[in-house]
Amino acid sequence: MILVERLCKNFLKKNGEEIKAIDEFSFTADKGQIVSLLGVNGAGKTTMLRLLSTVLKPDAGDAVLEGHSIIKEPEKVRKSIGFLSGDTGLYGRLTPREIITYFGRLYDVTDNTIKRRISEMANLLDMNDFLDRKVDFLSTGMKQKVSICRSIIHDPPIMIFDEPTSGLDILTARTIVSFINRCRHDGKCILFSTHIMREAERIADKIELIHQGKLLTEGSIDKLREESEHQDLDDIFVYYVNKFKGKTEVTADEY
Ligand SMILES: Nc1ncnc2c1ncn2[C@@H]1O[C@H](COP(=O)(O)OP(=O)(O)O)[C@@H](O)[C@H]1O
Ligand SMILES: [Mg+2]
Repeated sequence: MILVERLCKNFLKKNGEEIKAIDEFSFTADKGQIVSLLGVNGAGKTTMLRLLSTVLKPDAGDAVLEGHSIIKEPEKVRKSIGFLSGDTGLYGRLTPREIITYFGRLYDVTDNTIKRRISEMANLLDMNDFLDRKVDFLSTGMKQKVSICRSIIHDPPIMIFDEPTSGLDILTARTIVSFINRCRHDGKCILFSTHIMREAERIADKIELIHQGKLLTEGSIDKLREESEHQDLDDIFVYYVNKFKGKTEVTADEY
C-alpha cells in the first residue's frame, strides 16, 4: 500500500520564481484499491507520481510504499512498484516480446515466469497479433500496451500509471481500463493519474482531486457528488476548484 505524508516539491521557474508543484500533499491507497489522481494540466500529477516512483526527491514530507520510505529506501521502493511514465520510450527495432523479456531479466525474473507473464498479459490486453512485430510498425495504442507490460513484468504489488489512456482510441482505452480493473481483483494497489473525470468515475474507488499541487478533496465519486451537491462530473470538479479559490458562485465558463 501507499502512505503519502505532507509531501512537498518545489521547482524554480526560469525567471527565478519558485512554484510549489506539490504542496503538503497527503493521501493513502490500499491493496485491492484503484486510486485516481485527478486534475487539469499542470496540476502536479506527474510530479507526484515521479516522487512516488523515486525519480524525483521531495523537498519535504515522505511517502511509504509497501513499508519502504522513498527517502530512506528508494531501491526497495523501486522493486515494489511498476511505473508507467508518460514518456516511456521503446526500442523501435525490437518486438514487444523482446522488449518485455529484456526488462523482465533486468528485474531478475526467470525466463519461464517471463513467458507466462507475457502470455497472460497479452491475452488480457489483446496483444497477441503484434507481440512479434517490430515496435516501429505499431500504433500509439499498441505501444502503450507494450509500455504497460514492460512496467509490470515483475508483477509488483503497486502499479503507478501516469495518464495510461491519454490520447488513445476508445477501444484501446477500454481494454486498458478493464486490465487495470482485473489487477485490482488480483489484490494490487493501483494509482493512476488522469484529467478525465469520466474515467476516474468509471474505475476509481477513490479520487484525489489535485489542483496547483494541493489536495482539494478526496473520496468516492458518490461522496463527492453528495458533498458538492452536483451530479454532472465537470460541475463537481469546478465546484471544488471554486471553493479552493474562495468563491461561492459555480461557473463552468472559465474551464
Ligand atoms: N522539471 C520541472 N522544472 C520546472 N517546473 C516543472 C518541472 N516539472 C513540472 N514543473 C511544473 O510543475 C507543475 C506541475 O507539473 P506536472 O506535475 O507535470 O503537472 P500535470 O502532470 O498534472 O500536468 C507545472 O506548473 C509544471 O510547469
Ligand atoms: Mg502529467
